[in-house]
Amino acid sequence: MSVHAQVKRISVPQLMGYKGQQKIVALTAYSAPFARLMDDALDLILIGDSTAMVGYGLPDTLSITVDQLSAHAAAVVRSTSHACIVVDMPFGSYQQSPQQAFANAAKMLAASGADCVKMEGGIVLADTTRFLVERGIPVLAHVGLMPQYVNTMGGFKAQGMNDEAAERILQDAIAHEQAGAFGVVLEGVAEALGRRITETLKIPTIGIGASPACDGQILVTEDILGLSGSRIPKFARQYSDVATVVRTAIEQYASDVREGSFPALENCFGVKKP
Ligand code: KIV
Repeated sequence: MSVHAQVKRISVPQLMGYKGQQKIVALTAYSAPFARLMDDALDLILIGDSTAMVGYGLPDTLSITVDQLSAHAAAVVRSTSHACIVVDMPFGSYQQSPQQAFANAAKMLAASGADCVKMEGGIVLADTTRFLVERGIPVLAHVGLMPQYVNTMGGFKAQGMNDEAAERILQDAIAHEQAGAFGVVLEGVAEALGRRITETLKIPTIGIGASPACDGQILVTEDILGLSGSRIPKFARQYSDVATVVRTAIEQYASDVREGSFPALENCFGVKKP
């Protein structure tokens, strides 16, 4: 009989129970060090396809792959034991059919140990949400501004800015709720719409640029730490200037090495001189 270390993460039903009780606190992570530092402070960690832009320096999120995101997710899972872990389905890995989505979602969860997947898409993707949920894969839907649609949207722009567009996003969210999604990420919508959707749904909304009317917030970690260069969205409050800390340390390191100021082995391990 094998004995496994017991990891008791926040579960999907627990997150659903936060609705109306407490805000869901969520951030992205792509690597072990950040995941380790944030785990016990958060309810949910997302291995977002935003790593394409933040971690790989790409102009959009479209070219990250199932294998790449699975590897990042595995690193995050190995370094955490508390937060619920959600991995993004990359562009092209789920839009073709529910079967394609299930195969790739199952592959990502098996490879990484993550708990759930997130998929961007409106009503048209609701059948896919249902297909996955009925087969045991929890789905976090993502509506409003959907970065994987950057080419059809003509850029990263606020969504739902007139009555018709707002109604469409509301219907998208309702469709995913009815299909069994456990929550909805609501990106880039005005407060009135964020509130309307949050009040309409029984499942939690997690906003990103969607106002405190949502049931929680998710942001890109590098944005709140000042590590995203000039790309920081206006709704992301910056809590620290980690870039300056890193830059200062690296300049000091470079100067030490140039001056030959680094320790000999003897000084590190008590090794005797021959
Ligand atoms: O990829 C991402 O980081 C996201 C956001 C919701 C944070 O989808």
